[in-house]
Amino acid sequence: MADITKVLVVGSGAMGAQIAMVCSLAGLEVAVQDVAEASLERAREELTQRMQRSVDKGRITAEERDASFTRMRFGTDLAEAAKGVDIAIEAAVEKIDVKRSLFADLDRLTPEHAILATNSSSFVPSKIADATTRPDRVVGMHFFNPALVMKCVEVVRGPQTSDETAAMTVALVERLGKTAVVVDKEIPGFIANRLLNAVRDEAIRLLEGGYASVESIDTAARTALGYPMGPFELMDLTGIDIGYHTKQARFEETGHPADAPSRSVVDKVERGELGRKTGKGWYDYTNEGNH
Ligand code: 3HC
Repeated sequence: MADITKVLVVGSGAMGAQIAMVCSLAGLEVAVQDVAEASLERAREELTQRMQRSVDKGRITAEERDASFTRMRFGTDLAEAAKGVDIAIEAAVEKIDVKRSLFADLDRLTPEHAILATNSSSFVPSKIADATTRPDRVVGMHFFNPALVMKCVEVVRGPQTSDETAAMTVALVERLGKTAVVVDKEIPGFIANRLLNAVRDEAIRLLEGGYASVESIDTAARTALGYPMGPFELMDLTGIDIGYHTKQARFEETGHPADAPSRSVVDKVERGELGRKTGKGWYDYTNEGNH
């Protein structure tokens, strides 16, 4: 199988946009596709600002920045974006029906050799692979937020993922300057999010039980455990809705009340207080601008 030189990133939200930038900074050609023109525009603006900061800090030169953007194409037409790619990385909404139908389209539109990877944090590859005719080339490629910064990428193998697909995905992760962590046997939440969710759920239990405030819990995580940010600050960074959808999907699968989203998380989602991206989550960011 030829080397990976052309990448398609589907979805231009916070994750998709930064994944695309990581790929283009590593010298790959990248097509970024999203159904919403406005989201593509926002992604381009945010990346432009981020890269300007990288230039200002001397991490990359202005020429490298310009060359990276030259390697990127943004568009709404999936068929066009999928032409000639070696891998598609899907970073769309965490809804299984959307992902399955997207993978069926990607199966039709990408070259036969292309790997179809999902950045899903909740769905295992086998939930998606059978929507395609190439389950051996379907793999999880799970980045962490913010993808430009966090080193880890989990490479998740489904039962049908071939050794070649896993090896090529690991090689790509390394080429991106990231650390590949292989999950040999798929399990929802993989490794990092399972660890993280245990901490987050306990933090919410402490809050809902009236034992401590959001601020106290976050401060304990930072100053007692050395976490870079507390569980509530982290939810605000990743988006409270992301955790909500993940838990909701798990609950629908298992029916266990313990898997359902917590009351206070449901409240936040219903009020549209989703974290930094809406200006308010567990904390108020209205006077700060987006990070
Ligand atoms: N996007 C891109 N870059 C960002 C960023 C963002 N949203 N936020 C911060 N950065 C960059 C800054 O530009 C800065 O880079 P520089 O020093 O080279 O200019 C660097 O990160 C450090 O930022 P700050 O000094 O402002 O702040 P911190 O030192 O607190 O670092 C952090 C910010 C990297 C986000 C750090 O707090 C951290 O590691 N937090 C934990 C993040 C984490 O746990 N992520 C995993 C989430 S789970 C997940 O993603 C799974 C998914 O399935 C939901």
